[in-house]
Amino acid sequence: MKKLELHTTLEVYDNLAETPEPVQELMSKAVTARHNAYAPYSKFTVGCAILLDNGEVVTGNNQENAAYPSGLCAERVAIFAAGAAYPGIAIKMMALTASPVDDSLTIPVPPCGACRQSIAEYENNQDHDIQIYFMGASGKVVKSDSLKDLLPLIFDQSYL
Ligand code: THU
Repeated sequence: MKKLELHTTLEVYDNLAETPEPVQELMSKAVTARHNAYAPYSKFTVGCAILLDNGEVVTGNNQENAAYPSGLCAERVAIFAAGAAYPGIAIKMMALTASPVDDSLTIPVPPCGACRQSIAEYENNQDHDIQIYFMGASGKVVKSDSLKDLLPLIFDQSYL
């Protein structure tokens, strides 16, 4: 028996102002998207902004449904919208912000497992990794250099 060790290194910024200017710009679009979330059931709002290699920004927010599982997370709303509007254009960076509507959450919120799997599909199909920044409503911001750092042992098309 051998041991398989998995290592992840993430960067942690004390606050948004510490991050590079393009990140602040993208995160401000994620914040606006979060404020437009449709989350009447959980009252937990999530915003996502995606910067593409062609300079376009696509945003999304969580869209809930009275039939709960029929809703969708912000990250997938945004990444599917990007794939639909700009097929084949690579994703440079994603900014995520999540909190109850009262802006009370000050700890960074990573994307859920299902969203990580969806993001993986796009990262695998392009020639560079996706930088992912995530935060609560405020406070620390975490940066992952690649989706692979958030989802080790990814299931992808190579297994099919
Ligand atoms: N949610 C997201 O939009 N993204 C995530 O990564 C985690 C959860 C949404 C789904 C639901 O509308 C609410 O947050 C509470 O789970």
